[in-house]
Amino acid sequence: MPLRPPAVFIETFGCQMNEYDTELVRSILKDNGYRFTDSADTADVVLLNTCAIRENAHNKVYGHLGALKALKEDKGLVIGVLGCMAQNLKKDLLEENSLIDVLAGPDSYRALPELLEKAAAGRKGMAVDLSEYETYTDITPDRIEGVAAWIAVMRGCDNFCTFCVVPYTRGRERSRELDGVVREAEALAASGCKQVTLLGQNVNSYRDGTHDFADLLLAVAEVRGIERVRFISPHPKDFPEKLLEAVAGHPRICKHIHLPLQTGNDRILQLMDRTYTRAEYLALVDQIRTRCPEIILTTDIIAGFCSETDEEFADTEDLLREVEYHLAYIFQYSERKNTIAARKYADDVPAGVKAARVTKLVEFQRGISLKKNREMIGKTVEVLVEGEGKRSRDQWMGRTDGNIVAVFSKTGNGLKPGSLTSVRITDATVTTLYGESV
Ligand code: SAH
Ligand code: SF4
Ligand code: F3S
Repeated sequence: MPLRPPAVFIETFGCQMNEYDTELVRSILKDNGYRFTDSADTADVVLLNTCAIRENAHNKVYGHLGALKALKEDKGLVIGVLGCMAQNLKKDLLEENSLIDVLAGPDSYRALPELLEKAAAGRKGMAVDLSEYETYTDITPDRIEGVAAWIAVMRGCDNFCTFCVVPYTRGRERSRELDGVVREAEALAASGCKQVTLLGQNVNSYRDGTHDFADLLLAVAEVRGIERVRFISPHPKDFPEKLLEAVAGHPRICKHIHLPLQTGNDRILQLMDRTYTRAEYLALVDQIRTRCPEIILTTDIIAGFCSETDEEFADTEDLLREVEYHLAYIFQYSERKNTIAARKYADDVPAGVKAARVTKLVEFQRGISLKKNREMIGKTVEVLVEGEGKRSRDQWMGRTDGNIVAVFSKTGNGLKPGSLTSVRITDATVTTLYGESV
């Protein structure tokens, strides 16, 4: 170890699980004497925590790597690639890109201090073994203290949807014990955190041998000081009555469910191996709304999956019209190497057609999102204050229980980040509610 502790800059791509993993990595490195900096210019080590979900996620990382070339030549920067892309490409990536010194996959972060030490001495290295057990449950993430925090409660995915790379980059499902999660939530509450989001690639297939996901949600919601509990991402196949009852019945479990659909067409659902039909999915939506009429539903869609025809695509648009999600994330299908779809089906929808389908759905959904938000005008909702508004320091920004961004005036209300307050909605755009504190 040199006299001055090496400075690390970490850049994070991809989903919330990666954000959380960056906090784990910071914790591991801090314990090993590293310090942190907020730009590559002032760093001795740059780590990119990467995503592999679509081709453009890969491209973004290649772009950032290219931009580090001059710094590397200039001052001998150590460059490490972490996360799903490292796990996905393994030694091909290390061999093809001479800028990279270190590769570490999502289950190998404990090996990082050793890898970085070797890299500083000029030896490249990688750790990309997946584990059936690693949950990092003994490591306290190095979080930026704030109003909200993530807790990973399970890792990995056993679903193997045919389009998806995650089961290969994140390995098999494994869950932490309920007690450990609850203790982490208690520690967070003690440090002033008000909202906890439980994370997992398939969060509702959580099971620790004794407890299921509903047990876990309820236990975290009972932690004193935690005002809101969220969870992401659930799979539609794991919604037993008990879970719906927990969400509908507990005041501190947020009334928001992200329910990834992918496509509204039965043949494509089957090709994707999503394990539900359109009718089953719609029945679940009905069941959720009957139990919990105020629920906010959001979803993920893939347009242009292998062999999807115009008529089949129209089924998705039709389903968006029928369900009226508050928000939908809409992606073009991007073939991922070694997935089941890549091996079995031709990626035969032309790029232009995929793009046109995405544009069409995005436009359509914007109309619904605007309509849904405008329906809230005149209502009073509870908002958890997160910080100052982006546009003006005279405003607070927070989120509703349903996870919609709300902006309102600061004047004379004595609030601070972490406050829960009632806001009367006076205006709305596609993404944001505006109002006044009451
Ligand atoms: N585990 C989560 C999803 C993780 S990935 C779940 O099952 O909901 C987030 C979203 O990325 C997916 O819901 C899907 O819509 C999208 N996605 C995954 N693989 C993709 C691919 N190959 N091409 C385009 N979008 C993809
Ligand atoms: Fe991917 Fe399907 Fe697993 Fe979600 S459930 S991570 S889409 S394989
Ligand atoms: Fe990307 Fe890996 Fe998350 S592929 S979406 S960072 S699980």
